[in-house]
Amino acid sequence: MRKQIVVANWKMNNSPEQSKQLCSSILSNMSPIDKEVILAPSYLYLNAVVDATQNSVIKVAAQNCHQEISGAYTGEVSASMLAALGLDYVILGHSERRYYYGEDNSLLAKKVSSALSQGLKVIYCCGETLDQRNSGAHIDRITKQLTEGLFHLPTDAMRNIVIGYEPIWAVGTGITATSTQAQEMHAHIRNAISNKYGADIANDTSILYGGSCTPSNVKELFVQNDVDGGLIGGASLDADDFIAIVNA
Ligand code: PGA
Repeated sequence: MRKQIVVANWKMNNSPEQSKQLCSSILSNMSPIDKEVILAPSYLYLNAVVDATQNSVIKVAAQNCHQEISGAYTGEVSASMLAALGLDYVILGHSERRYYYGEDNSLLAKKVSSALSQGLKVIYCCGETLDQRNSGAHIDRITKQLTEGLFHLPTDAMRNIVIGYEPIWAVGTGITATSTQAQEMHAHIRNAISNKYGADIANDTSILYGGSCTPSNVKELFVQNDVDGGLIGGASLDADDFIAIVNA
């Protein structure tokens, strides 16, 4: 049975105080749930968030990692460093990393392997631009991101992968994919995984939707057959909104 998961991607936001406050509001107001909740603060606050969420149901993710385990890479953070902090997950392939930092599928394939080799689970993001959607190239674009960034993995490794489908035109724009658009792409992703790894793995893989999720639009998205939760950016910075989304 695949898990329902909600991820808070705080991006480059929050002060240390705000991070602590968000953690404690989420912990004290979250009702007992059957979903997995993951917080992804900046590198700097990972330690504090791991401490604050110890002995709770909340898991912690980093927003990126380097593809090498160690070496002369000034300013970078490796998967082994993240694993040593006690993290469970790392987000890889977010569209902001792909766009602003030129991360392509072949680099991401290395990052994915590196993270898995250190015992981290990976939330692998994919998504198309508005032009690609309007020209009907969106399905092929996602297939390519999966094939080149993920499908080098052996079957067992897929048990440690969560997919985040985030149409770029919906991330941070206030425009959300319709539930029909989301379901169509999620079904396509599951089908692609099934073709490569078989139906069991495909059925067990959680596929999250991300892109301007709010308490008012998530319910319709989360009830879709192939939508197994969400990757939440802006709305995860407000404890009440995030908890409402988790409880949706
Ligand atoms: P958003 O971001 O909810 O602000 O659109 C989602 C994400 O980037 O994961």
